[in-house]
Amino acid sequence: MSTKIGIIGAGGMANFHIPGFRSAGATVAAIADPNLKAAKAAAEKHQIEKVYDDPAKLLKEAGVDAVSVITPNKFHKPLVIQALQAGRHVFCEKPPALNAAEMAAMQAQAEKSGKTLMFNFNNRARPESFAMMEYIRQGAAGRINSAQALWIRRTGIPGFGGWFTNKELSGGGPVIDLLHMIDLALHFMQFPKPRCVLAQTFNDFISDKTFKGPWGIPDAANGVTNVETACHGFIRFETGQVLFIRNSWAEMNKREEVSVTFQGTKAGGMVQRLFGRDGLDDTAIDTCELYVQENGRPVNRQIVVEEDKSMGRLRSAANFVLALEGREPPLNHPGEALVLMQIIDALYASASSGAPVTLP
Ligand SMILES: NC(=O)c1ccc[n+]([C@@H]2O[C@H](COP(=O)([O-])OP(=O)(O)OC[C@H]3O[C@@H](n4cnc5c(N)ncnc54)[C@H](O)[C@@H]3O)[C@@H](O)[C@H]2O)c1
Repeated sequence: MSTKIGIIGAGGMANFHIPGFRSAGATVAAIADPNLKAAKAAAEKHQIEKVYDDPAKLLKEAGVDAVSVITPNKFHKPLVIQALQAGRHVFCEKPPALNAAEMAAMQAQAEKSGKTLMFNFNNRARPESFAMMEYIRQGAAGRINSAQALWIRRTGIPGFGGWFTNKELSGGGPVIDLLHMIDLALHFMQFPKPRCVLAQTFNDFISDKTFKGPWGIPDAANGVTNVETACHGFIRFETGQVLFIRNSWAEMNKREEVSVTFQGTKAGGMVQRLFGRDGLDDTAIDTCELYVQENGRPVNRQIVVEEDKSMGRLRSAANFVLALEGREPPLNHPGEALVLMQIIDALYASASSGAPVTLP
């Protein structure tokens, strides 16, 4: 019998979760959004039988095994905990929560309820990442000493005054929103324990509308714009490994770049996407390469993979279903999400205090 899933939040990302779950054989049986019009429109578009204006009603009445939480970040923790308490497995959009304390509470509830909690770190589910991880697991890179994680935009602020630019609703700007490459670098480095973090954030251009991204989040008149637009940071791990990070929505960069580069004792490597225009990928250039020394010469090995315009979003949702059904290992665990949120907290804390932050 196929896993029955309910969708909580009928916004843009539901368009990836629904077909992703279905591609793994799940049934998407219900959808809830306090904006009933949005819920009804998504239900009609995706042929979903039950529609609710309240996630609590969905949990009580829809008879689902699992839910997918796809709401603004502030609501992740309360909705995830509510669903776990109701005995449902949960797939939650990124970022896991607003901060590490919230994430720890979600992890504790998942353990108490004995239910699966996974997050949509969809960049781990890209063909490039699966391929690179296979080389890393086989030992082709040796020990990864250092890595650089970048998600940098030139003009990519997602609207003005909506939930993305409001710290109370989002938890912050590009550091928390574009956390994907930090997560992917940690995944490649196999999650060493972070020891020390130094960072600086900048908030230039946060109210300059010429720095807005091309996607369709409407601006809110008199809305709040109190998050950073760029962050540069450095993380040292207990192992002596190091990670440099750059995240930005608005910075004087040449073009949008999404990449993890690493230097190992046997090989270096890079998974990179260069976007044609900020946020639009029709002219994107993808690279997946290993850098080695062979026969006394530098050799660049190009790893050829299939194209995935969804950047792993469909495959990541499918992995949740396959993991629940024991057909594939889960692509992420709550403990990893906690480390990621501890690093994000430390990046913000260092930027705010102007000093390095040592993690316990
Ligand atoms: N993985 C990715 O590539 C990716 C890309 C974009 C956004 N996201 C994440 O997805 C989440 C949603 O983003 P989006 O772009 O779909 O947002 P959106 O603004 O398009 O949609 C959010 C929806 O959630 C609904 N909502 C608000 N509070 C709710 C509640 N308490 N219960 C149920 N529904 C509620 C809203 O009415 C809205 O319809 C965010 O956490 C965001 O960070 C992930």
